[in-house]
Amino acid sequence: MKKQKIITEFEVYEELSDLPEYVQHLMLQAKEAREKAYAPYSNFLVGAAILLANDEVVTGSNQENSSYPSGLCAERTAIYAAGANYPNIAIKTVVITAGPRNSINTIPVPPCGACRQAMAEYEQKQSEPIEVYFMAQEGKICKVNSLLELLPLAFDKDFLK
Ligand code: THU
Repeated sequence: MKKQKIITEFEVYEELSDLPEYVQHLMLQAKEAREKAYAPYSNFLVGAAILLANDEVVTGSNQENSSYPSGLCAERTAIYAAGANYPNIAIKTVVITAGPRNSINTIPVPPCGACRQAMAEYEQKQSEPIEVYFMAQEGKICKVNSLLELLPLAFDKDFLK
């Protein structure tokens, strides 16, 4: 038997003004996108803004459904829109903000497992890392430099061979 260890790394920023300017701008766009969430069942609103290599920004928000599993997270709404509209343009940065409708949260909200899997697919496809920033509505901001940090030991297309 052999034990193996995976170490993941992320950065923590105290406030928005500590982030590079383009990320501050993306966070504003993610916050605007969050306002457009359709989340009547959970009342938990999530917004995502994605910067592409051609400087276009694609945004998304969570979209729920009375048939609960038919809904989709903000991150996948946004990344699938990017993939659908800009199939050959690399994804540089994903910025996420999330929190309940009627109260302010401050603990950074990381993307769910399914969204990590979806984002990892695009990172592998483009062979270039995607940086991901995530926060609550207020408070600290976390950043990973690659999906490999968020989703170690990932399943990917190479296993299908
Ligand atoms: N949600 C997201 O949009 N992204 C995540 O990474 C986690 C959860 C949404 C799904 C659902 O509409 C609501 O938040 C509560 O789970």
